[in-house]
Amino acid sequence: MNRREFVKTSVTGLSAVGSLKAAESRALPVVISSANGLKATQKAMEIIRRGEDTLDAVVAGVNLVEEDPNDRSVGYGGLPNELGVVQLDASVMHGPTRGAGSVAALEGIKTPSRVAKLVMERTDHVLLVGEGAQKFALAMGFRNEDLLTDEAREIWLKWKSQLNPDDDWINPEDRVSGSLADEGRVNLKKVLKYHGTINCNAVNEKGDISGVTTTSGLSFKIPGRVGDSPIIGAGLYVDDDVGACGSTGRGEAHLKACASFMVVEFMRQGLSPEEAGLRVLKRISENTVEPYLKDEAGRPNFHLLFYVINKKGEFAGVSMYSGRQYAVHDGKVNRLCDAAYLYEAKDALE
Ligand code: GLY
Repeated sequence: MNRREFVKTSVTGLSAVGSLKAAESRALPVVISSANGLKATQKAMEIIRRGEDTLDAVVAGVNLVEEDPNDRSVGYGGLPNELGVVQLDASVMHGPTRGAGSVAALEGIKTPSRVAKLVMERTDHVLLVGEGAQKFALAMGFRNEDLLTDEAREIWLKWKSQLNPDDDWINPEDRVSGSLADEGRVNLKKVLKYHGTINCNAVNEKGDISGVTTTSGLSFKIPGRVGDSPIIGAGLYVDDDVGACGSTGRGEAHLKACASFMVVEFMRQGLSPEEAGLRVLKRISENTVEPYLKDEAGRPNFHLLFYVINKKGEFAGVSMYSGRQYAVHDGKVNRLCDAAYLYEAKDALE
């Protein structure tokens, strides 16, 4: 049985659970991250080794990437929205206290993960967005009024929908007709659109688990677009009894699937991190019915990845397509590993 058949068999039903080789047991602590997080896993492990909190550790880790102007997908230096404004999304979850906090469409703050952590620690809320999130972070704000009439908006929407084959506006009739794919929109999106993000999750020697996901979101997005990263259960989920999962890739797919929550729930049912991630990727693949989101073989034409740990310290990076990596510090070595995958990538764009 080749790798593809092996994966296909193992994710088709609960009866197949156990057909995958059981994940090798790992010594705690463990820190896992997306591939752009090698310095984040190193930093987080150093903090965990000093006996400090797992959430402090992973946030300090991703802060290095948020503050790095050369990472185009996170924080300072992240690619902007359609209007040229950088809008950042982030979420945190702290397993021991069952805490969660997040911010979305936050402008002007380099480290949205720290703001998300403060939302968790200093408010009775979970999610602050846009101007409110900025006011919370900066204790300052500005007036914003919508001056657009309904009539003018309809004219403007029509113009927007025909503006550019690589923008995110869609005529309703094109959504189901397949014409978007026929026009080559898919290929343009693959080349120009960017869903980079960093997720980092940790489990310490006591089994305490925390996670953080932070991003500048989809490049050139419609202003106000919020991806999966700040949505608890989509871009991040931590259950201190079970494990943690965070995601990168097309946020809209993770959002519709409650993807990270589902991965953790499958682990609660007994699946390994790899099995749980692959099971959810298969579900998302089956639910991707829009013609413009499928390749010629009927598979999703976008990337998705999960970074998964459980309370025992077993871990996996799991990808829709082959050829992807993730970062992990297993307490001994900090390194990049090849992610498990659902489908073999067929061409360079994948
Ligand atoms: N996964 C990041 C985003 O789509 O915004």
